[in-house]
Amino acid sequence: MDIFSRAIAATPILRDLPVAAQVPIIVIAFVVASVVLNVASQLFLPKSRSAPPVVFHYFPIIGSAITYGMDPYTFFFDCKEKYGDVFTFVLLGRKITVALGPKGSNLIFNGKLSEVCAEDVYNPVITPVFGKDAVYDVPNAVFMEQKRFVKSGLTSDNLRVYVGQIVDETEQFLKNDPKFAGFKSGKSAPVDIFKAMCELTILTASRTLQGEEVRQNLDKSFAGLYHDLDGGFTPLNFIMPGLPLPANFKRDRAQRKMAQFYSEIVAKRRAAGSAEGAEPSQHHDMIATLMEQKYKNGRPLTDTEISTIMIALLMAGQHTSSATGSWALLRLGSKPELIQEIYDEQVRVYGEPDGSLRPLDYETSKSSLPVLDAVIRETLRMHPPLHSLMRRVLQDIPVPPTLSANTRGTGLRQKEGETLIIPKGHNVLAAPGVSAIDPTYWPDADQFLPSRWLEGGILKSEEKNGGAKSEATKGAATSNETVDYGWGAVSTGANSPYLPFGAGRHRCIGEQFAYLQLGTIIATIVRNFDWKIDGGDGKIGKTPEPDYTSMVVLPKLPCDLLMTKRETA
Ligand code: HEM
Repeated sequence: MDIFSRAIAATPILRDLPVAAQVPIIVIAFVVASVVLNVASQLFLPKSRSAPPVVFHYFPIIGSAITYGMDPYTFFFDCKEKYGDVFTFVLLGRKITVALGPKGSNLIFNGKLSEVCAEDVYNPVITPVFGKDAVYDVPNAVFMEQKRFVKSGLTSDNLRVYVGQIVDETEQFLKNDPKFAGFKSGKSAPVDIFKAMCELTILTASRTLQGEEVRQNLDKSFAGLYHDLDGGFTPLNFIMPGLPLPANFKRDRAQRKMAQFYSEIVAKRRAAGSAEGAEPSQHHDMIATLMEQKYKNGRPLTDTEISTIMIALLMAGQHTSSATGSWALLRLGSKPELIQEIYDEQVRVYGEPDGSLRPLDYETSKSSLPVLDAVIRETLRMHPPLHSLMRRVLQDIPVPPTLSANTRGTGLRQKEGETLIIPKGHNVLAAPGVSAIDPTYWPDADQFLPSRWLEGGILKSEEKNGGAKSEATKGAATSNETVDYGWGAVSTGANSPYLPFGAGRHRCIGEQFAYLQLGTIIATIVRNFDWKIDGGDGKIGKTPEPDYTSMVVLPKLPCDLLMTKRETA
C-alpha cells in the first residue's frame, strides 16, 4: 500500500468520501503541512551564526519567487530594510544570496574565478541560443580572449562609419515605416514607441556590427530565425532549462540555421578575399574583425566560433538597447521640455547659417553633446535593462566586515567580530540598479534629472521647474581602479553605485556601441519629431510602469507617444 492509501485507510472521514473528493483534501493537507513545517523550521530551528539571514517565506521551494518576480526592486528594498545588505532568498528551490550596495556589487563582480562562476548559471539557457565553442561554452580564459577580439573591432574608424549608417537607417525608417510614414509637418499621431525602438535597434545593429549580408536578409529569412531564437530567452528556461517545449525545438532549429547563415557569409568572404587580385576587405563589421583575429597560440577562429560570437552580440545588444531607447523616449515624453533642450543642442553644434543641420558625426557626437549624453545616462540609472546579475558560488565566500556590518545592524544574529559566509552552492546576485535609485547616493533619486550628470550644471527646463541643483554627481563618482582580464583595462567599478554595464571580467563590451547607437537614433528622431505622452485634455501623461516578467525590464504596454512632425524637418 502506498502512503496515500495508508493515510486514507487510517482516516475515517476520508475513507467514506468518494475518490474525487479525497484527492483535493489530501493535496490541501499536504500543502498545509509543508507550509507549517517550513515556517516552523525558519522560526524555531537553530541557525548558523555565519549564514546570511534568510528571507521569511511560507512556501518551500517556491520561496520568494512571486514577490521577487513581480517587482524585484520593491523586494530588494524591503529585504534591505529587514535584513541588511546581504541576505538569502529561496527561488524555486535554489538559494540565492543577494549582496547589495557598491560593496556588494564589488564582492560579486570582482570575485575570484575560484569563488564565483557566471558560466555555471548562464550556460544552460544561453548556449542553446548563442551556439557552441564561444562565450559561456568555453573556459573563461578563452572567453576573455574572445572579448578582446570583439573589442578590437570597435575602433574609432569603424564607429565613425557606423554613425552615418545609423542616421541613414533611422531616416529611412522614419520615412518608410507605416508607423511614421505619412506624417505631415505639424501634424500629430500616436506611435507605439516600443515597437519602433525594437525595429530600429535591429536595423541599425545589423547594418553596422552585423554587416551588409545580415542587413539585406533582415526583411527575409533572418527576421524569422531571430524571432525563434529569441523565443529561447525566457525566465522559464533560466529556471528549468531543456524542457521539451515547442518553443525550445524552434530555438534549436533557428540556432542551427543561423549558425549556417553566418558560416556561409564567412565562406563567401574568404572565397572573395582569396580570389586573384582581390581588394583588401572593405567591411567595417564584426565578421570582418573576427575573421582577422588569432588566439594567443596563433590559431584563427573557426566558423562556429565566429557564428556564436555574432549571435551573442546580436542578442546581447538587442533587448538591452531597445529597452533603454524606449525608456529614454518615454521619459522625454513625460518632460517634453528636455526634447527641446536636445534639439537646441543639435542646433548649437550642427546648425548651419541657412538654418539647416549638418549631419551627425562621430567626433562631435562623442564629445560635444552633453545634454543627449546625460539623458541616456539618467535613463540607465532609472531603467537599467538587467536587474539581477548572478554567479554560482564555487567555494565559501567570507563577506568583508564593512559589508556584513550593514547586515549585522538589522539581521540581529551576528555578533561583532563574527564573519558572515556565503556558502558554496548558493547563487550570488548583484543588483546595481538598487544603489542607482537609492536616496543615500542620489538626491531626488526617484526623479528623472539628467542635469545631475552635467558638470555643476542644471538644465534650463529644470531651473524653470525649480529642480534641485545637482550636487548629485556624488552618486556618479566611479573608482579609478582598473584591472585587465585579457581584453583591455576596465574599471573595477568598486564603490560605484552606478553600474548599468556591470563590472569586472564579465563587464559589458557593448557600452561604447550602445551609446553611439542610442545617441544617434535619439538625435535623429529629435531632429524630425517633437512628442509627449498624451495624458488627455492637453496634459502630459505618466511614464509607463516597468514590466519585470521578461528577461530585461521593459515598459508596460501601451507605450504610445503622441508624435508631432517638426515644421523644420
Ligand atoms: C555584458 C548591460 C548593450 C554585449 C553586460 C552586462 C551588463 C550589460 C550589465 C554584465 C553581465 C553580467 O555581469 O552578468 C548592457 C546594457 C546595454 C548593453 C545596459 C545597452 C544599453 C550591449 C551591446 C552589446 C553587448 C550593444 C554588443 C554589441 C555584451 C557582452 C557582455 C555584456 C558580450 C559580456 C558578458 C560576459 O562577459 O559574461 N551587458 N549591455 N551589450 N554585454 Fe552588454
